[in-house]
Amino acid sequence: MAVERTLSIIKPDATRRNLTGAVNAKLEEAGLRIVAQKRLRLTQEQAEAFYAVHKERPFYSDLCDFMTSGPVVVQVLEGEGAVARNREVMGATNPAEAAEGTIRKSFAESIEANSVHGSDSAENAANEIAFFFSGCEIVG
Ligand code: CMP
Repeated sequence: MAVERTLSIIKPDATRRNLTGAVNAKLEEAGLRIVAQKRLRLTQEQAEAFYAVHKERPFYSDLCDFMTSGPVVVQVLEGEGAVARNREVMGATNPAEAAEGTIRKSFAESIEANSVHGSDSAENAANEIAFFFSGCEIVG
């Protein structure tokens, strides 16, 4: 399998509970390398743009409010099949359905406050990485 990159976001529910290190440990244990990382507070405009694909969904407005409610940590993860590997270690969107040992099973509070985001395809990963990082900020 090819070495890929994917975008990860540690969400406000996790930064509020000081879980950045605990999430990173699970990512690294899963064989993913954090090749870029920064902590920031999303503006409403940034959150709306980032989640634009969900614009028509009933949860869109609440999701954008939640994502701007506190700091996030945006990351680029690198590894063999990183997109799928990250989604595996994140677990299902709804923590009630997430497998044992996954980040969301271990830490998520709800389907909205679900601790992490991860790109769902290689194509979206490229777009999402470019949304937050310039090439020189990613050090493989
Ligand atoms: P994420 O991977 O960041 O992508 C979209 C987010 O919408 C998702 O994780 C959830 O946090 C959030 N969300 C809130 N409500 C729902 C819902 N009913 N179904 C799917 N996603 C939801």
